[in-house]
Amino acid sequence: MSYEAVPVRSYIKGDSMKRFAIFLFCFCLLITLSTAMANAQAAQDYHSYANPSAVRVHHLDLDWDVLFDQKILKGTATLNIERISPTEPLILDTRDLKIERVETSTDGVAYAPATFTVGTSDKILGAPLTIPLPAKANRVRIHYSTAPAASGLQWLEPAQTSGKKEPFVFTQSEAIHARSWIPLQDTPQVRVTYTARVRTPRRLLAVMSAESLSGAARNGDYRFRMNQPIPSYLIALAVGDLRFKPLGRRTGVYAEPSVIDLAARELSDTEKMVLATERLYGPYRWGRYDILVLPPSFPYGGMENPRLTFATPTILAGDKSLVSLVAHELAHSWSGNLVTNATWRDFWLNEGFTVYLERRILEAVYGHGREEMEAALGLRDLNDELAALEDRDEVLHIDLKGRDPDEGSTDIPYEKGALFLRHLEETFSRSNFDRFLRSYFDHFAFQSITTEQFLAYLKQNLLDKNPALAARVPVDEWVNKPGLPSTAPKPTSSAFARVEEQSKLWLDGQITASKIPAAKWTTQEWLHFLKSVQDSGHAAARMAELDQTFNLTRSGNSEIAFQWLLMSIRNAYQPAYPRLEEFLMSIGRRKFIKPLYEELAKSPEGKERAIAIYRRARPTYHPIAVTSIDDVLKWTP
Ligand code: BES
Ligand code: ZN
Repeated sequence: MSYEAVPVRSYIKGDSMKRFAIFLFCFCLLITLSTAMANAQAAQDYHSYANPSAVRVHHLDLDWDVLFDQKILKGTATLNIERISPTEPLILDTRDLKIERVETSTDGVAYAPATFTVGTSDKILGAPLTIPLPAKANRVRIHYSTAPAASGLQWLEPAQTSGKKEPFVFTQSEAIHARSWIPLQDTPQVRVTYTARVRTPRRLLAVMSAESLSGAARNGDYRFRMNQPIPSYLIALAVGDLRFKPLGRRTGVYAEPSVIDLAARELSDTEKMVLATERLYGPYRWGRYDILVLPPSFPYGGMENPRLTFATPTILAGDKSLVSLVAHELAHSWSGNLVTNATWRDFWLNEGFTVYLERRILEAVYGHGREEMEAALGLRDLNDELAALEDRDEVLHIDLKGRDPDEGSTDIPYEKGALFLRHLEETFSRSNFDRFLRSYFDHFAFQSITTEQFLAYLKQNLLDKNPALAARVPVDEWVNKPGLPSTAPKPTSSAFARVEEQSKLWLDGQITASKIPAAKWTTQEWLHFLKSVQDSGHAAARMAELDQTFNLTRSGNSEIAFQWLLMSIRNAYQPAYPRLEEFLMSIGRRKFIKPLYEELAKSPEGKERAIAIYRRARPTYHPIAVTSIDDVLKWTP
C-alpha cells in the first residue's frame, strides 16, 4: 500500500468540500481498521517500543569494528523494512546506544540523511529511537556505537580468560538486551534474517549465531549470514582467541586453546543427541550445531543461539555428568528457535517445552534412570520455588507488565511447564503426544506464537480428539493458576530412593559417613543426597565428617561444589569459606552466585563477608549478574 498526496485543490468548492470530507472519513476509517486488525493478530509486547504492525523489519545488515581498547562496537545497522501503515515512523528499541546519524533509502543504493529522535530512557526498557520515514523509503541505516557498560555485552580483560593473553567479548541478548548492542525491533514476535561483517584484531576469531562465510582463515575480517528468520534475542556474537574441534558430521566445539581438548571430550555425545532429537521431533533445520564454551563469567548455564549454543565452562566436569545442558540448548532448536514465544509472558512455551524435550533426549541417549533422576531433581527445585514465590509468579502465563522479563525466569516456566507437558503425555499416551508435538513444531515452524495460539492448537489437535481423556487434564489450572494441580505427575527415581535410605541412616546416626556406599554415585545422586541432608538441622561437625570422608569442599564438579557451599553457609561450616571465596571470585554464572550471596546476606557476619567478596568480584561479573547481585546486597556503586 503506497500513500499519494490527495489533490486538495480540486475539492475546495461547494459539493467537492463534502466529497472531500467523506473521502477523508473513509480513508481514516480504513487506516484505523487495518491497524486494528494487524494489532489483533499480534500480541501486545510490553517490553518493546516497536510498532511492527505499522512498520516491520525483515532483514538486518550489520557491520562493526570491535574496539577492545574502548570496549565498544562501532558501525552500522541497515534495516530492510516493510511499510504497512505508510505514514507511520519506524520505532526501534535501544539502550545506551550512541546514535551518530541515520539515513534512509528507497532502493538500497542511494542513502539520504534522515532525522531521528531518541526518547527518554526507561530503566527496564531503554529508549525508543523514532525515525520518520519519507514516502517509499524501505531501508534505514543507523551509524552508532555501543556503551562500554552495554547490558548485552561483556568485555573481558585478558586476565579473565583462561589463556590470560588476549581479550574476549561476548553478547547475551535474551531477554531484552539485543537493544543494547543493535538498534532494532527487540520483540520476539518480529523475526529477521541477517548478514554481518565483523572486524577484529587479526589474532582473534569472531563467531556468530549464523553461517560463517569466511572459511578457516583468521584475518580479523569475518562475514556471516543467517538466512532463516529468527527473533532478535537469538542474535549473538563472540570474539576471542578461539579454537575449533569437530565432534561429528555437523557438530563441533569452539573454546580457548587451553580448554578445547577438555571441551571436545566432555561434549563428544553431541552428535548422538542431535540424532536422538531428530528421531523424536523431526529434522534439525539449522545446518550446523556447534557449541561455544565461554570464559567462566558467562552469566548463564547456556544460551541457545541458533547454530551456536553458548555454554558456561562449569559444565566441563570431566565425566559428562552435566551435559544435560547441551540436551537443553539443543532442544531449543525446536522449542524456542523454531517455534518462539511471541512475548515474554509466553516464555514457558520456550522453556517448559525445552525442559520436557531435554529429558526425552537424556532418556534416549543415557537411559531411563538418568531421565528419572533429572526429573526428580527438577520437581524438588520446583517445590522449593513454589514455597517461596508469590501466587502471581507461580502462573505459567505470567503477567510481566511493568516488570523486567528476567523476573519471570524462575523454575515455574521451566519445571512447571515441563510437568504440564508430561501430564499431557501420560494422559494421552507417549505415541500420541509425540505425534502431536512433532506436528506442532512443523505447523508453527519459524513463527512466534502466544499461549492462546498454543492452547487453540492443543484443543484442536489433542484435547478434542479424546474428550474423555481431556477431562482429566485441568488445562486452565495448569496455565492460569498458581501452584500445581493435585493430579500433577510426581516424578520419582529408584536410584534416589536408595540414596534416601543411606541419608536417613547417616542422619539418624546409625552409620558413619565412611559406611555410605557412595563410590559409584553419579553427580545426580550426590546432589540428591546433599539436598536431602541439607535441611536436617545438622551442624558444622556433621559437615566436617562428610567433608573428611568425601572431600566435598574440593569437589571439581560445579553443581556439587555449589550445593556444598550453600550448605556450608547455612551451617556456618568455616573450613569451606576459602573455597567459597575462590568460587565466587572465579565463576559468574548467576544460578550459582545469586543463591550464595543471598544465603550469606541472611546473617550480619555473612553479609559483611559477601560485601567484601563482592567488592572485588563485581568488576569481573557480567552486567546482567551485577544487576542481580546489586539487588541482593542492596549495593549502590
Ligand atoms: N534461554 C535460556 C537462558 C536465558 C533465559 C537467558 C532467560 C536469558 C533470559 C537457556 O536455554 C537456559 O534455560 N539456560 C539454563 C540452563 C538449562 C540447562 C536449564 C541456565 O542458564 O541455567
Ligand atoms: Zn532454556
